[in-house]
Formats: sequence, C-alpha cells, structure tokens
Amino acid sequence: MTTISQLTCEYRINPLGIDVLQPRLSWQMQCNRRGAYQKSYQVLVAPTQHDLQAGTNILWDSGQTASDQSIHIPYAGPALKSGQRVYWKVRVWDERDHAMESDPAWWEMGLLEAKDWKGRWIGAPFWGGPRTSSPAPYLRREFSLQKPLMIARLYATALGLYECYLNGFRVGDDLLTPGWTDYTKRIQYQVYDVTTLLLPGANVFGAILGDGWAVGNIAWFGRQNYADRPQFLAQIVLTYSDGSRETIATDEQWKVSQGPILEADLLMGESYDARRELSGWLTPGYPDSKWWSVEVFPVQNVVIAATNGPVVKRQEEIKPVAIHKISALQPRWIFDLGQNMVGWIRLTVCGKKETTVTIRHAEVLNPDGTVNTANLRTARSTDYYTLRGGGLETWEPRFTFHGFRYVELQGYPGEPTIDAVTGIVIHSDMQPTGKFSCSDPLINQLQHNILWSQKGNFIDIPTDCPQRDERLGWTGDAQVFARTAAFNFQVAGFFSKWLRDLEDAQSADGAIPNVVPGLLDWSIGIDGGPGWADAVVICPWIIYQWYGDVRIVEDHYASMRRFIHFLDETSHEGLRCYADFTGEHGHGDWLALDGSDGREGGTSKELIGTAFFAYSVQLMIKIAEVLGKKEDARSYARLAGKVCAAFQKRFVRLDGTIEGGTQTAYVLTLAFDLLPSNLRARAAAELVQKIREQGDHLSTGFIGTPYLNWVLSKAGYLDMAYRLLKQTTYPSWLYPVLQGATTIWERWDGWTQEKGFQDPKMNSFNHYAFGAIGAWMVKVIGGIDVDPDRPGYKQVILHPQPGGGLSFAAAELQSLYGMIRSAWMLENNRFEWQVIIPANTTAIVILPARDLSLVKESGKPLQEVDGILFLEVDDQSVVLRVGSGEYHFSSLLKLN
Ligand code: BGC
Repeated sequence: MTTISQLTCEYRINPLGIDVLQPRLSWQMQCNRRGAYQKSYQVLVAPTQHDLQAGTNILWDSGQTASDQSIHIPYAGPALKSGQRVYWKVRVWDERDHAMESDPAWWEMGLLEAKDWKGRWIGAPFWGGPRTSSPAPYLRREFSLQKPLMIARLYATALGLYECYLNGFRVGDDLLTPGWTDYTKRIQYQVYDVTTLLLPGANVFGAILGDGWAVGNIAWFGRQNYADRPQFLAQIVLTYSDGSRETIATDEQWKVSQGPILEADLLMGESYDARRELSGWLTPGYPDSKWWSVEVFPVQNVVIAATNGPVVKRQEEIKPVAIHKISALQPRWIFDLGQNMVGWIRLTVCGKKETTVTIRHAEVLNPDGTVNTANLRTARSTDYYTLRGGGLETWEPRFTFHGFRYVELQGYPGEPTIDAVTGIVIHSDMQPTGKFSCSDPLINQLQHNILWSQKGNFIDIPTDCPQRDERLGWTGDAQVFARTAAFNFQVAGFFSKWLRDLEDAQSADGAIPNVVPGLLDWSIGIDGGPGWADAVVICPWIIYQWYGDVRIVEDHYASMRRFIHFLDETSHEGLRCYADFTGEHGHGDWLALDGSDGREGGTSKELIGTAFFAYSVQLMIKIAEVLGKKEDARSYARLAGKVCAAFQKRFVRLDGTIEGGTQTAYVLTLAFDLLPSNLRARAAAELVQKIREQGDHLSTGFIGTPYLNWVLSKAGYLDMAYRLLKQTTYPSWLYPVLQGATTIWERWDGWTQEKGFQDPKMNSFNHYAFGAIGAWMVKVIGGIDVDPDRPGYKQVILHPQPGGGLSFAAAELQSLYGMIRSAWMLENNRFEWQVIIPANTTAIVILPARDLSLVKESGKPLQEVDGILFLEVDDQSVVLRVGSGEYHFSSLLKLN
C-alpha cells in the first residue's frame, strides 16, 4: 500500500498565519516496496476544500511534472492576500506509473502589510520607576457580535510577553509569545483561530502582559529598555456569515488593572498573590469602572513579522522522585525531579489565606542537602505564591522559566506530599526526529543528556544555558551543536527563525556578534570572533545539508558574503586575529583544559581564527556552487587558497607538526583540511600522541571537541575515538554521566571528586556545547549520515563503524522523506544489520566486510537481491547503492 501523507508547508502541518510569499510544499511517499520512487507529481491549490475536490477555481496547478522532487516545491500560483487560506493536495505517480492522491491540507497567510494592522499599541499607565518591575497589567475590552459569525482570527503581539483570553478561555497554548527577536528591528506576531471561542452577543477580550525579553532582565545587564513597560497590539478579524467583516482591535477603549501577578521576570521569577485574583474579569458586564484607561503608544517603527518557526509550548510533566526535609524549625522541603529540566512547577497546596510559599529552583544540591543556587549568579529564579485560602489551590507561573532539577518549598503549610510539585517542561515545539541507543548504558545516558540539554536550551532561540543570568543566543554554541540538534529534533524552522535574527544582528561592515539576538549596547556591532561569528555560514549550510533547504542559503547569501568580506578586510594576508594587526580576539577554544586562565584554552586565537576563516570560505565555495554562482565560487576558491597558504606558512612545520601543538590545533587543521596530503598522516599521529600523553584523555574546549572524534575516525584512529567516548575518568564525556548528570555540563570539571564544584561564577549544568559529540555517535556508531551531494537525505549514507566493544547500536531518523533506520548487532564476528530507507530516496550502504562472498541480504547472496542499484568492493568494505525498502544484511567480519 502506498500513501501520500505528511503534507507540510514551510515545515509545518497546516500553518496558520505565515508570511512566506511562495511557501514551499512537501509530502512523503509512504510505502515499504523496495525501490519505490516518485516519477512525477502534480500539486493543486484551490481557494476552498470544495473547489479542490471538484477541480474548480484552481489557483495553481503545477501540471504533471516529471520529477522525483517531493520536498520544498515552491507555490507558484497568483500572489496570495493577507489572511487568505488555500487548500492543496498532491497527486503522485510512482515508478510503476500508478497514481496516488493525498488528502487535502491547507495553509493560511498572515498579515502581509503594515496597513493590515488596525490596532494601536496599548498598555498600562506608568507604574514604578523606569528600571523597577511592576505588576503584570490585565487588559480587557468588551464587544458584541450582532450577526452570525463565520470565522474569526486573532492576530496578536507584544513588546514584552502576552497571553490572550476570550470569554474566560485562554487563546491557544503558546508560551512566552511573541518570542525573542531584536525588537528594534522585528517583532513577531501570532495568529489564532478563535471562531469557536466567540459567542453571539456580548464577548470579552482580555490579555495579561509580562516583561519578558523586551522589558525584563536579560543576562547580567539588568532590565532591558526596548520599552519602559509592556505594550500590546492585537486585533480580532470577524468574518460574518453574510460576508461582511469587522475588526476588534487594541485601542483607547480598553481598560487596564493590576491583578495577582505582582512581578514576573524571566530570570527572577514570578510573584503571585491569589488574594488579588480578579474574579469575573473575563465575563461580560464585569464592573471595570475603577480600572484605568489604557495608554496608547506611538506606532513601533519595526517590521511586524509572522512567526514561521515553532513557538514554545509545554511538552511534558515530571513527577518528583524524592522529597526531603531540611531544618525542623522553619522547614524547607526539597523535591528532586530526577531530571535537570527547564520550565517551572505546578504547585498544589492547601492552607490558610495569606500564607506565602517560596519556591526556589536549583540544578544541584550542596553536600548538606540544601539547594545550591550559587551558579545562578544574579538570577533569583524564585517564585512566590500567596494563598487565597479555603481549599485546594494549584498554580503555575506564566512569564518566567527556570533551569532546575531540585525545587525547594519554604513556608508550605503542613507537610507536603510528593504530589505538591509537578515539573512542567517547556521548549520550542519541534518534532522529535532522532533516536539513538547502543549496548553501553553510559553512552545511552549521554545521548539522554544531550537530548535534554537541547530541550532545555531551545527556548525560542538556541541559548547557552537556561538557568543563570545569561540564557543568551551564543553563536558559537549554536554552531557547534547544530548538527546534533538536527538529528534529535526537526530544527529547520527553529534555525530559519534564528538565522533571520542573526542577519538582523549583522553590523554594516559585515561583522557577526557573539550573541544573537543582539543586545542593546553590548553585542551589536562587535565581531563575535572565530567559531562564533562563523555561525552565519555554518548554520545555514547545516540546514541546507540536513533538510535540502536551498532557500536558506539563498536568503542569507548576501549576508554571508558581507561576512566573508569583513573577514578578508580585517585579516592580515589571510591570517585572522593576527596579533599585531587587529589584535587577538574572540573566545579561543572556550573552556579547553590546556590554557592558563581555565577559560580560553591554549590554542592561539590566530590559529583558530585562520582555520575558521578557511573553513567558512570553503563552505562559501560550496554554497556559491549550489546557487549556481560560478564566478563567486571561483573567487572564493582563490580566497580559500590564500587563507590556507597563510595558515600553512604560519602554523605548519615542515614535518607536519603544528605550531602550538594543542589537541585543538591538530583537530582544526585536520578537520578543515588545511594540510598538504603528504603531511596528514603525520599530523593525525601527532594528535593521537597528544591524547596518549594525557592518558587517553581529551583536553579540548568548545571549538576543538566537536571535531575531535570525526578527525580521529576519519584518519584511521577509530579505536582512539571510541576510547575517548568511552573514557570514564575526568576529563571525558562519561565522567559527568557517572556523577549522575542528566544534562550536558558546561565544563568538563563542573564537579569533580577531588575539587567539588567549579567556580560558581560560571558553572552551568545544562549547556549543550560538549553534547556536539551526538552527531558523531549517530553517524559513526549508528551509521546514518547525509550525502553532501544529495542533501536532505535524498540519498542517505549508511555506514556504521562498530568498535569500542559495542555489541549493538540503533539509530532512527524521521527525515523529510520518512523514517531512516540503521540497527546493527555484532556477535562472534557476525554482523547483522537492519536498514530501512524511505520511499523516493536511495542509500549508499557501506558494509564493514572485506569479501563479497561473506555478505548476505535476507539470506541471499547480494547479486540476487532486489533493489540493489550498484555494487563495489574495496579493501575495507562492500559498498552498495540501494533503493528504498527494508533490508537485512549480514556479514562475517574479518577483525584484525
Ligand atoms: C557562555 C558560553 C559562550 C561563552 C563565550 C559564556 O558565558 O555561557 O556558552 O560561548 O561565554 O565566551
């Protein structure tokens, strides 16, 4: 049975309110027949579902198009208008010329022009001082529906955060909207279908505002001043059954008051006094005569953009695994959620009116069992809940989040049970796509920790950490982790949004800062330095490779060019960060163990800078080629040659050893291919020697670590790569695992048996950068990799490289074409391998076997197997090209 399903538009199923003018359509051909592929397709787009089925009023008919392209087909019909919804379906002819048709899907455009916004920016009168926090404004306005309603849409945004309510119901389930952008350039809005929330006659439209990223505390900079208080902009567009329209927008008719939220700040926490709840404020006729009139603010001179990527939503709930009591007199109760997580708790409590429960959050405990909050720095991460009294009360904050495993309750009336606390996990709503497991439980825990650090740090933007007074979009961290991220979750939409932020943060001379969205008075206008700024080239390239997304490199090409131009201008004869010219700068090999200051590592910034310069230019050659810009590709090739020559002259000795001689120096030189071929083996051997000198330990930081194992396995040192991965003594990936880590630590020595906790000034226990090993685990152990020439897994490379004493491994990836699976077992030199390749794709299958006669598929010799398109045997392996379907290979390994 073949079906055509998973219809998506701009990576989303039936997106409501996008502003991509020619959205791209994708579908999956699902069938388990071997060698199944799409021979041609026909996309039909119509204004209504009825038209689509009847074939009337068709807006766009691609015609039967002979092509196996089934992802990213751009809509090419007439321009769509603001708010227009269209329905689409696709017909697919397979390799046997059988036609199949999908079910209908739709997408709806958002507001495409500034003049579509009828509302005004409104908010509360000024309370407090310019830098003080103040109670969250509650806003309301009544309106009346006089005619039967057909559909209603709510468009809403804020400077600050907002939640909307209609007649007592919360609109949608998005959190922390409108998300974080550079609010001087761009503010996102969200769109909701509110048809069923409206009533004939009187209705109440309400909103609660929070400070969020625009007004509240960010990092260690204190409160932001994109605005001096939260501002709200919204409109409900009503379409009546008679075809007429009406808009209810934010305007001077709104009223505002203070309610129970006395303070809400992303870093500090939320204070909620339930005695001050405004009962009935969302019911028509509520007496709001004592409420203030809202203030109307001038129009924000920024782009108000649709939200084309995922928004933050609640994802799961966690029950504590243990509870203990500290101090008898004023008891404090400490709950262990068993998992370092990001979000908040739901508190359940019963007690006297006026009792205040203090809720503190921490990642770790002190030896005496108390919560250790030193590493949060100035982030208070404390919520307060004051009871209304008279029964069971449950409460969750709205406009804050915390990174924590432990929760301390102070002032809890009576003795709490474990049910008093539930962890609410939040993150950007990305579809989970990857699974990896193997026979080593410690490596499985490492994969678990990587996954949880991604969950905890993909909160609208990729952050470094979710707990202390930082939580910034560090470009270097995002860049090193992006490959791993793209296995665990569908991150194309997430990165598309952030890459727009990145371009917004670029300065006129082409520099890219270290933190994006840029921060007023801090990161904007600066050069983020090697490995950080290069995110502008590396991240779009990864999204192109992993998702076949050409548009992302096309859209950002001009910005990447400006960046390369900047590098060229600010480097000295090809050397970036040349000490005597621009001055060494950047963050070095952040948190490597071989430096003198414990932070920037021992590798010279000039070496790192020049290596990354070369790498970014090498990627530009490929990007220019993808975009058909041949002249650019040639000029980048010349530039790459210049930089590489400068690198060699400055850092490579005649015998293949590298100046400075750190592990990272060797790793970057090899990873970015900066050596003449005759010196590579020597350099790789030197690297291995350096590792041996450390007793088979790494000493690399954020910059070297992500490439370390790749370089080793590629250079023929698979055994050393496995040894590093399986190393359990400090420093290693598994050392934190053995200390009970449930997320990736910022530092190799976040806590050690000898020294205890690292310096609390910088010691996050949820920092994904070192988790970048995940991509290597998936590719080299699991065996799934992209084919750079057929990106987006149109052709997958399946090439597991067993080792490290592992007896099995399984990797599974939901690609845009469907599920890819590679699962192997090794027993007495017999290698059994199950492979699943989605329809309309092919795979290069590389079997670890030196002799064809030792290989079988489902018991048959390879020559007799259906679906094999090509076959080759080299001295290490049997290489096949196969069509879609499920295969069971077995071979006898000749192990050395
Ligand atoms: C952040 C890192 C970041 C680094 C660069 C730290 O404060 O947490 O993740 O990349 O600074 O210096």
